[in-house]
Amino acid sequence: MKDVMELKELVELIRTVTNMYQHGWDERNGGNVSVLLDAAELAEYLDLSRVHRTIPTGFSAPELEGKCFLVTGTGKYFKNVQYEPCKNLGIVRLADGGQSAELLWGLSDGGRFTSEFPAHMMSHVARLRVDPENRVVMHCHPANLLAMTYVHDLDERAFTRTLWQMCTECVIVFPEGVNVLPWMLCGTNEIGEATAQKMATARLVVWAQHGIYGAGRDLDETFGLIETAEKAAEIYMKIAHLPRVNTISDEALRQLAAHFGVKAREGYLQ
Ligand code: 13P
Ligand code: ZN
Repeated sequence: MKDVMELKELVELIRTVTNMYQHGWDERNGGNVSVLLDAAELAEYLDLSRVHRTIPTGFSAPELEGKCFLVTGTGKYFKNVQYEPCKNLGIVRLADGGQSAELLWGLSDGGRFTSEFPAHMMSHVARLRVDPENRVVMHCHPANLLAMTYVHDLDERAFTRTLWQMCTECVIVFPEGVNVLPWMLCGTNEIGEATAQKMATARLVVWAQHGIYGAGRDLDETFGLIETAEKAAEIYMKIAHLPRVNTISDEALRQLAAHFGVKAREGYLQ
């Protein structure tokens, strides 16, 4: 049996959450990440018949039956993950149509997976429907995106257009734009369902006055999506109170999309 600490996704997740913490996106226990694993590959690292605990999820997700996820624990500090991965992370397999999670590794202090497990699992279902290659769902609290939700119209088209105008790369990195949810109670099935619904049309979903969700094929792609949107929000927060003398025109955005072979969200350009 191979050493689970050498599982590629585990190595990369530890590096990624450490980096997220260093970016200031994950104060205290803020943020959570889940990664869909390949069960056949995981079997080379863990005895999949050995279930340490079974934890009820409080929702059902039949599409995820038998699927294994690496996930951050609830109340765990990202800054500590690199020092005690086995305590701060877990590997679970969904069973009973998604109504329970079988713990296969980690959460060694008796802890549970993130309180945002519904939003993660429902988002995986939604993203897998549009992209069978999707593996990662990531949530965090980047300061400028959060700040922007206090001062900018939350209309998705308006919010997206502003971000696209802030950095030339934005329309290339997230041509589908960002979707936005109004403030909702976090850690619930309701916000999970609402997030998943938004994930059907974009890989980025802003939670107003809370943070952002990203989804992607790997940790780099997902981190990069959030990083790019957060950079744009940072520029916006630097200039929002100043007269705008120049901007990236719709014609320029159209040229970018054409040159880099992406399709800007229908109806978002004038
Ligand atoms: P968890 O510690 O349960 O993952 O919650 C952190 C968070 O960001 C809630 O939205
Ligand atoms: Zn949060």
